[in-house]
Amino acid sequence: MTSPETTAIFTRSWSLYDLLTEYNYMFHREIYRKIEDILKLRGDQGHYRLLDLGCGNARYLAPCLKQAVPVIYEGVDLSEAALTEARGYLAELPGQVFLTRRDLLEAIESTEKTWDVIFTGFAIHHLAPDEKARFFHAAGRCLAENGWLILVDVVREENQDRESYLDGYLKFMRETWTKVPKDQLEEACAHVHDHDYPECLSTLRGMASEAGLHSTQLISRYAQHHTLLFSRSTLEKI
Ligand SMILES: C[S@@+](CC[C@H](N)C(=O)[O-])C[C@H]1O[C@@H](n2cnc3c(N)ncnc32)[C@H](O)[C@@H]1O
Repeated sequence: MTSPETTAIFTRSWSLYDLLTEYNYMFHREIYRKIEDILKLRGDQGHYRLLDLGCGNARYLAPCLKQAVPVIYEGVDLSEAALTEARGYLAELPGQVFLTRRDLLEAIESTEKTWDVIFTGFAIHHLAPDEKARFFHAAGRCLAENGWLILVDVVREENQDRESYLDGYLKFMRETWTKVPKDQLEEACAHVHDHDYPECLSTLRGMASEAGLHSTQLISRYAQHHTLLFSRSTLEKI
């Protein structure tokens, strides 16, 4: 499902996505504030290893990592434009920073490291169902025993098909993303229409459980935008 066209919008015009997030149309402010809070709860501050899949320019995760410092951060993305910006946003992190231009599924399936936190923001919905299952399987393999998989993404309602999900999301975009110039808004709508394949929460939970990540917590939800935390065993409520 991931083809050069899937990520073309991020390669060609990273600035459009940056504009959307600047206006907070996808709730980045609220979502990442909470992510900072939960990362600060980890007992391994300064020592944990974080893999960020589909990192983009890391603009919103970078400030969280300044408050909850990892020893290693590795960001993976197919967009060179985004990675170039990420270098700037992550420049002040004290730990080691690696940025890799690579397909995220290939990256997680081939990593030989054990990761304490695997983070992915608004990227997994581009994968086909079998690729999502492979993603969870690979995460289950390389996540540390007390590791967290933090997944921020759009999620369909239970029993909602893709078509009605898209109707709702495109309506939401056209009604609320009013400060985006019309031609750019339509470009964003076409991208969502052609490349977004979100799953229902129960499907994600099932795939995670199959991969040994038996605990799922809903950390936050703003309209279709969910933050989920998967782990091997049940955590205290975060
Ligand atoms: C919507 S942006 C999200 C950026 C950031 N994680 C956030 O939360 O704002 C999605 C990013 O995932 C990247 N991406 C999508 N599919 C990918 C794939 N298969 N491999 C690597 N990167 C991918 C895109 O290039 C883009 O930078």
